[in-house]
Amino acid sequence: MTEPALRDIAAASSATGPAFEARDMRFFADGVRQRIGVVLPDAKAALVFRRLAPRVRELGFDTFARYREHLADPHDAEWERVVALLTTNHSRFFREIHHFKLLSRHLEEAFGRGVKRMRLWSAACAAGQEPYSMAMLVAHLKQGRPEIDARVLATDVDRTVLEAAAVGRYAPEDVGHLPRFARPFMTPEADGTFTVTGTPRDLVRFRYHNLIGGEWPMRGPFDAIFCRNVLIYLAPDDQTKVIKRLARLLKVGGILCLGHSEIARTEDMPIKRIEVASSYVRI
Ligand SMILES: C[S@@+](CC[C@H](N)C(=O)[O-])C[C@H]1O[C@@H](n2cnc3c(N)ncnc32)[C@H](O)[C@@H]1O
Repeated sequence: MTEPALRDIAAASSATGPAFEARDMRFFADGVRQRIGVVLPDAKAALVFRRLAPRVRELGFDTFARYREHLADPHDAEWERVVALLTTNHSRFFREIHHFKLLSRHLEEAFGRGVKRMRLWSAACAAGQEPYSMAMLVAHLKQGRPEIDARVLATDVDRTVLEAAAVGRYAPEDVGHLPRFARPFMTPEADGTFTVTGTPRDLVRFRYHNLIGGEWPMRGPFDAIFCRNVLIYLAPDDQTKVIKRLARLLKVGGILCLGHSEIARTEDMPIKRIEVASSYVRI
């Protein structure tokens, strides 16, 4: 083992178990990369160990090698578990508020022009904070306009977060900073949590979807796509392919918002950068 991160983690795992070696890291990094495009460099060995070790113990294995044997069939349902454990699902309501201000201007302008059909997509929706934020904004702006047919598609590759998103229940610290217009859409529960209710809930559809490879069933065209804080985990080639596919699904004039550290190389793409950070418009 030449990589210091791997050496450290192998040493630590020999004390705490289950035993974790360089070939384990390679196996899980390759498996995740092939399935969802997420790149796990050796520097992430400690994260891989920390996230998978409880599952390895739960299954009664004393080494990661045994877990690898268990996962020998590439179609084994346990791979879903691995994907869920190794994806990073951190999110927040109205994260990067400038994108919601842009979306608000975009929707108001479209409603002003008499557009009645609105299709939005949150393309890596985690536990639902992003698509519900989009839906709360739409619900607020379409009040008194029953003729507007709006929907928010929300997709992710992690089925556990999709289940949580469909329940739509959040801890008080998750909802403390909501803009005033969004608060009525959060109903307090007896245990102190809050559930998304009303129109925003009706507007969102949660679906499993992998941005990497395969057929994309959605046809669009979308008025806005948010694909934020997922491309950073992918290899540069995959980032470009995903952005290209997203761009083609936008309506002319539709907007694409990426995460704050994600940049689209717009050559050969039907999008151009606009003044709002990490945002693009379909041309
Ligand atoms: C950090 S969260 C971003 C959540 C939200 N978009 C935001 O910005 O707050 C990244 C999400 O991307 C999802 N993801 C990772 N690889 C994916 C893929 N290939 N296709 C779709 N979603 C993916 C993860 O499961 C995770 O929920």
